[in-house]
Amino acid sequence: MRFFLDTAVLAEIEEAAAWGLLDGVTTNPSLMAKAGVRDFDAHYRAIASLTPGPVSAEVLATTYEEILAEARHLYSLADNIVVKIPFIPAGVQAIRTLHAEGIPTNCTLVFSPLQALIAAKAGATYVSPFLGRLDDIGHDGMELIRQIRQIFDNYGFETKILAASLRHPQHVLHCALEGADVATMPFAVMKQLFHHPLTDKGLAQFLADYQKLHAGA
Ligand code: E4P
Repeated sequence: MRFFLDTAVLAEIEEAAAWGLLDGVTTNPSLMAKAGVRDFDAHYRAIASLTPGPVSAEVLATTYEEILAEARHLYSLADNIVVKIPFIPAGVQAIRTLHAEGIPTNCTLVFSPLQALIAAKAGATYVSPFLGRLDDIGHDGMELIRQIRQIFDNYGFETKILAASLRHPQHVLHCALEGADVATMPFAVMKQLFHHPLTDKGLAQFLADYQKLHAGA
C-alpha cells in the first residue's frame, strides 16, 4: 500500500520524503487555504518538485468545459500532477474525456460504492472515498472501502482506491487489511505510525543498561 501525505505544507512534505515514507501527495482547496497559499500554480510546482510520486491538484471549476480547461492547465504544471475532480456529473464526464487524452485523474468526494463504480467506468486513475467524514456522521467508512475493493475486483477495474479523510493509524491499518491501494493521511497521522509506547520504553531501557555498563567500566 502506498502512503500519500494529505497536505499543502512544504515542510511536512520534505520531512516525510526524508523518512522515505512519501509515495505521493494529495491537496484540496481547503488544505491550500489552511497553508496560506495564494499562488496555487507556483505552489503545485513546488509540491511536485519535492514529491517522488503523484500530486493531486484539485480543480475549482464545476462545469464540463471549465473543468477540462482547468485540468489541462494543472496537468501542464508538472509531470507528476494528477487532476483531482469532484464526483459530479460534469466531473465524471470530464474524467472520461481526460482519460482518453491520457491525463490522470483522482475522483474525489466519493461517499458511496456506486459513485466509485461510476468513476471507474469513466476511467478515473484513482477514486478517493472519504472514510473519516463518513465515520463523523455515524456511518462505517471502512465498509465503503470493502465494497469498492470487491466491486473493482469483480470487474477487474484498474482504478486505484485512494483511501482519504483518514484520522488515525487504525484507519491506515484497516485500509491495508481491506486492500486499499493508497492511504492518504495528515502529517500528524504519518508521524504517529512510527510510535509505540513499548518501542520508546524498550529503547530507553537498552540505552540505560548500556550507560550502567559504561559507567561501571
Ligand atoms: C482527500 O484527498 C482529501 O484531501 C482529504 O483526505 C479530506 O480529509 P478531511 O475529511 O480530513 O478534510
